[in-house]
Amino acid sequence: MNLAEEIRALAQARNAVILAHNYTRPEVQDVADFTGDSLELARKATQVEADVIVFCGVYFMAETAKILNPGKKVLIPDPSAGCPMADMIDAAQLRALKAKHPGAKAVCYVNSTAEVKAECDMCVTSGNAEKVMRTFGPDEKILFVPDQHLGGHISGLLGRTYELWPGYCPTHARLSAAAIEAARAAHPGAVVLVHPECAKDVRDAADHALSTGGMCRFARESAAQAFIVGTEIGILHRLRKENPGKAFYPVNGQMTCPNMKKTTLENLFWTLKDGTNEVVVPADVADRARTAIERMLAIA
Ligand code: 13P
Ligand code: SF4
Repeated sequence: MNLAEEIRALAQARNAVILAHNYTRPEVQDVADFTGDSLELARKATQVEADVIVFCGVYFMAETAKILNPGKKVLIPDPSAGCPMADMIDAAQLRALKAKHPGAKAVCYVNSTAEVKAECDMCVTSGNAEKVMRTFGPDEKILFVPDQHLGGHISGLLGRTYELWPGYCPTHARLSAAAIEAARAAHPGAVVLVHPECAKDVRDAADHALSTGGMCRFARESAAQAFIVGTEIGILHRLRKENPGKAFYPVNGQMTCPNMKKTTLENLFWTLKDGTNEVVVPADVADRARTAIERMLAIA
């Protein structure tokens, strides 16, 4: 048996389900039971009946799975796989921000820690932010954390003004509007898809700003045959696998999230074998964070 086959056999023996984000290594995506974006993975986590969830992605995603399905054992192959953006605000900073804006609604991007979610009225992902944010009235003051770009994107679409925390994704910050123009020149006619974590000038230079799941759907349903992809390059594996007749070009080859690459077949195998690296969220934090996430899931 090769390592992937051993992992499948172990998953069955341990009654475990393997969930993987669209940015993980190709071989990790291929061995997983389900691959998706943050929203799809959160939904999937609520439906798991197996005893164990092995989460191949970054820590906040595994925490979200644990919060939504607290009776399951949730394991992460490398617990040091964090999200730098999620760590750009902590609970004390958010409490201080809320104290400065009494009565405001605190909204967190799902790329945030459980402690930050516990302080929030609502959670959003890039896949549902527009629909969820439409549920707030025009007079409601919104504090949006931690991603200034997703928050700016949605407030722009809805014609609102949010108080934006200055967080950002270091991987998506590597993308420039000039790089998009160069990619368009190299691949004339290709449709340009970027993630809403990109800065405004980059989003403006693109044709569509979509979550990673949204990109997969768009590529499947579009009549276009060529796409320039402005997000973490791990998604190219899934896009090419699902659309063998279409062409996908990265805007540049440098868009790698080092934390998403920390899950390997080797550490996935050992986590499954030994049941190590369990994700624990204190019950009081989980209960408060669950309210914000479940409100979001109920809307979109
Ligand atoms: P998606 O929810 O679109 O997959 O995005 C997650 C993420 O971390 C993007 O950097
Ligand atoms: Fe976080 Fe950016 Fe990596 Fe997504 S790509 S997990 S936002 S650092």
